[in-house]
Amino acid sequence: MNNKIEDIVRQDIKKIAPYVPGKPIEELQRAYGLGIEKIVKLASNENPLGPSHRVVEAIKRCADKVSRYPEGSGYYLKNKIAEVFNKPTEEIILGSGSSEIISMGMEVFINPGEEVMYPTPSFQIYEILAYKIGAIPVEIPLKKDFSYDMNMFLERITSKTKVIILCNPNNPTGTIIYKKQMDEFMRQVPDDVVIISDEAYREYVDTDDFGTAEPYLYSKNIIITRTLSKIYGLAGLRIGFGIARKEIIGFMERIRPPFNTTIPAQEAGIAALDDKEYINRSFENNIKGRVYLYSAFDSLGIDYIPTYANFILCRIPNATEVIKELEKRGIIIRDMFGIGPEYVRISIGTEEENLLLVQNLKELL
Ligand SMILES: Cc1ncc(COP(=O)(O)O)c(C=O)c1O
Repeated sequence: MNNKIEDIVRQDIKKIAPYVPGKPIEELQRAYGLGIEKIVKLASNENPLGPSHRVVEAIKRCADKVSRYPEGSGYYLKNKIAEVFNKPTEEIILGSGSSEIISMGMEVFINPGEEVMYPTPSFQIYEILAYKIGAIPVEIPLKKDFSYDMNMFLERITSKTKVIILCNPNNPTGTIIYKKQMDEFMRQVPDDVVIISDEAYREYVDTDDFGTAEPYLYSKNIIITRTLSKIYGLAGLRIGFGIARKEIIGFMERIRPPFNTTIPAQEAGIAALDDKEYINRSFENNIKGRVYLYSAFDSLGIDYIPTYANFILCRIPNATEVIKELEKRGIIIRDMFGIGPEYVRISIGTEEENLLLVQNLKELL
């Protein structure tokens, strides 16, 4: 062959740094062998309680259907979402995780060369998706304390700005956009800019001051993305959904891959949305874990950013060594060295997992 693959691949694709996920449990098992009985993964903001038993039953019940394609539109799950979130089904679209909804929302609106704005530090896929479609990423830094600077978003809008993605609560900082900030922003943002409000963690938020984009669904161009990967405990099934006006959903449906959500994911989604006891238990576990970890971090001298989500951004001295040592002991946390050398993100685990983490941190620090 007389050409190199680098010469023919799109320039934009070369700009993408590969997504680095939290280290999978299996990888740690391979690295350190069978010595580690139970691996504690506090690296990907999953629900630590395991799936709801109703979800497990639902998956078993549909196991013998999987030789067929799913009903692409996800009729029954969409109806369940409509019921739970009080929206007509025409305003709902299903995705293979909410990441796919974000992707479809961007693809529908952004022409190559147009700008997409999003906060930084934030969820890494926004940048990846921007380059994927030939858009120009415009990163808006959070303030020093990691709170949102909504004025900066407004100031940076140009005639090329097509989409603004707001991550609320923001990953990896756990900070939110407050109601007043959101109202002020929506009052000023031009009508031809589309807002994607990524509200993957909103079920964990415990303040009435949370600024969801929901009140603006019919007065602005808004896509709200929600996921069943977090509090609903279905990360491994890849299922999420978007809410928007029916005209927007209509265009997104044109590019939705025909069978993008699976039969087990659709069935499990219905069961998960119905299991209020599990959702409440997950919420309570998160609040209790957060209180416990704050006080443990205080006594260990670990700085942290107060969070509204199911993870905490902290600063640990010698973070590289601590992460490595924790891994040897079967505990996975996630480095956030892109922010600074000591930054790590720790997902809130079960009571037992949090205790184990703190015991080990005590020994290591
Ligand atoms: C801010 C944010 N949005 C979206 C997602 C994607 O979730 P999923 O594609 O599993 O719905 C994540 C996952 O960690 C996230 O942190």
